[in-house]
Amino acid sequence: MTAIKLVQGDITRQSVEAVVNAANSSLLGGGGVDGAIHRRGGPAVLEDCRKLRASQYGKGLPTGRAVATTAGELDARWVIHTVGPVYSREEDRSALLASCYRESLRVADELGARTVAFPAVSAGIYGWPMDDAARIAVETVRATPTDVEEVTFVLFDESAYRAFAAQVPSEE
Ligand code: AR6
Repeated sequence: MTAIKLVQGDITRQSVEAVVNAANSSLLGGGGVDGAIHRRGGPAVLEDCRKLRASQYGKGLPTGRAVATTAGELDARWVIHTVGPVYSREEDRSALLASCYRESLRVADELGARTVAFPAVSAGIYGWPMDDAARIAVETVRATPTDVEEVTFVLFDESAYRAFAAQVPSEE
């Protein structure tokens, strides 16, 4: 069974094998977690992303999918980029958000990563309400068969931490 751990802090400072990036389809960087990962990871991350765009993902990485690159200067070995859905009040996009976690774990399994850190995908610039984002994140990780031994959710602020803690009463 995959252990679930919660940490309040900066995802770029985690000592794990793979760090998940809340990217956008372009894979070429942005704000939030994406900006922080590219800043701290350095140009090698962007270089790999550009190669992926040129080879497999000419039109960009579709929402709900995940792909790995080097982690450059980060402690981690890999960055797994996933594209969360933009929150919509009119349309239920939960399946796409769940897919981000499932696909990221699948990529982690392909890489052989045993420890993976996730941010609260879609719960920043993409506007997903934190409580709901936390529920989908934790439920999906619990329901996904994987060889990953430890998933760490890295929450930037206290309210995000509390939303995740409500889903993980005693850390598993
Ligand atoms: N470590 C951990 N969590 C963080 C960090 C950090 N260094 N920085 C922000 N957060 P976001 P999204 C939190 O906006 O909603 C980018 O421009 C943040 O407070 O990074 O999926 C991409 O290029 C929030 O709780 O991701 C896309 O265009 C959570 O991480 C778009 O933003 C996710 O916020 C993706 O938006």
